[in-house]
Amino acid sequence: MKFFIDTAIVDEIREVHELGLLAGVTTNPSLIAKSGRVFEEVLKEIVSFVEGPVSAEVISREAQGMIEEGEKLAQIAPNITIKVPMTLEGLKAVHHFAKKGIKTNVTLIFSANQALMAARSGATFVSPFIGRLDDIGHDGMQLIQQVAEIYTIHDIKTEIIAASVRHPVHVTQAALAGAHIATVPYKVLKQIVQHPLTDQGIEKFEADWKKANQ
Ligand code: E4P
Repeated sequence: MKFFIDTAIVDEIREVHELGLLAGVTTNPSLIAKSGRVFEEVLKEIVSFVEGPVSAEVISREAQGMIEEGEKLAQIAPNITIKVPMTLEGLKAVHHFAKKGIKTNVTLIFSANQALMAARSGATFVSPFIGRLDDIGHDGMQLIQQVAEIYTIHDIKTEIIAASVRHPVHVTQAALAGAHIATVPYKVLKQIVQHPLTDQGIEKFEADWKKANQ
């Protein structure tokens, strides 16, 4: 499973990029709003150093509007991936983008059937939202398992992005469930790195080293 970061804060992306493990970036309108910056400017800055897919979401409800927005965004850089909501209009836009060779990420996926349809319309990626399903008492991880199994049985090449990740356990479970990618918030990426036994171990090694007058 690969790591994407789910943020529009460029400093966070830069920091994780330095770790050498960053395979892509996802943004959404809420994350862009939180950054307080102009959408296109943020995207241009991200693609100046991120080589992997960078998801940029359209706002229109109608396919034609999504196509216009998406084609404009796709001109920013070849690695811009157009994030489209899982609706009938969204699928029409996905089909259009697929024909033009523009990558898409179908977002707000909450059922296996939605993921199957999105793939058949030509989605490059699908984003099942784990955390939002957990929030309403459903099992988000079961959805990842189902989609992974269906895609394997039917030899579907669309990649599964485990989205709406809330904590490190989600990341382990998504990897085991067969997600190709997890898009992880900065805070959770930092939580994954930290472990109290790692910190204690470093302190003990340092103390022993000093005691031995090395
Ligand atoms: C995915 O691409 C979305 O940007 C994101 O994971 C949504 O997460 P949330 O449910 O925490 O808003």
